[in-house]
Amino acid sequence: MAIQWFPGHMHLTRKAIVERMKDIDVVIELLDARLPGSSANPLLAELTGQKPSLKVLNKQDVADSARTVAWLDWYNARPGTRAIALDASDAAPARRLIDACRQLAPQRGTAMKPMRVLICGIPNVGKSTLINTLTAKREAKTGDEAGITKQEQRIVLADDFYLWDTPGMLWPRIIVPESGYKLAAAGAVGRNAYDEEEVALELLAYLKHHYAPLLEKRYNLGLNASAVAAMHDEELLELVARKRGAVMSGGRPNLQKAAEIVLTDLRSAILGRLTLETTEEFAGWLAAAEVQEQERAARKAEQQKRKDRRPRPAPSA
Ligand code: G4P
Repeated sequence: MAIQWFPGHMHLTRKAIVERMKDIDVVIELLDARLPGSSANPLLAELTGQKPSLKVLNKQDVADSARTVAWLDWYNARPGTRAIALDASDAAPARRLIDACRQLAPQRGTAMKPMRVLICGIPNVGKSTLINTLTAKREAKTGDEAGITKQEQRIVLADDFYLWDTPGMLWPRIIVPESGYKLAAAGAVGRNAYDEEEVALELLAYLKHHYAPLLEKRYNLGLNASAVAAMHDEELLELVARKRGAVMSGGRPNLQKAAEIVLTDLRSAILGRLTLETTEEFAGWLAAAEVQEQERAARKAEQQKRKDRRPRPAPSA
């Protein structure tokens, strides 16, 4: 089962963003440093056109630092794009954000021509936390001017630097199945859109190959890394259940409870520092998903053609 997500307010937000984009100099996309590819909105480039883009890999404190470096290189290699890594414990993130935006739009950032920046990101990525940190010393100014939607907020970070927060910018369909699982595991997808056991199994399938020592450390599995990697995912979840005392009457492992434990441990970073995708893995998943999308579109077009060719019943006399 692929994880899907159809936010009803998408259309409105999309329109609001296209409208707002006319007056924007730089677009900041906040990404989860533990899933820097999957947490990026594939529609963003379409919505923002050629605007300079700053990718902020937030929560770097809980991500795999070697992988964060690789992801920063990946984004920095794109034209018109800069990438930086931040975390909530960063005492002064404003300076780095402002500097990066100035590099991207050097013609802006004066009292006459203030820098106008849009910030967006998936739920739970840490946008409110970052905005609160940024505005700690300044009163946040909410938008009451024409064109600013009820939810949209304008924050004055400096006299020559305005930040627009446009909430709820999601994408209508997740085409990369691996991304769906990772977004669900990280807590970015509404609880009703996925099955916890299924997501925990997918998560363990990844962790056992890439972060077996972290699993061993957290759950005292009593196995070395290659033995953990060789286990079936269901077996591993069962072992986690037993090790954490999640057993039902008759001694059967409570897999639902174990799944909740694993997901909570990931989200609260108790498992340790980890990143759920490398640049190469993500590029491979994306390429495969794009081929599938093309095949799906071709099948749909073929079905439609066949439908159109079918003879229509003659109108009754
Ligand atoms: P959102 O507005 O994008 O939806 O996200 P929000 O700021 O509410 O942050 C979601 C969760 O991520 C919060 O944890 C927040 O503390 C945590 N978070 C944000 N930035 C960082 C970061 O850079 N590093 C780490 N480790 N965590 C970060 P929570 O458990 O939902 O709430 P709470 O523990 O703050 O009460």
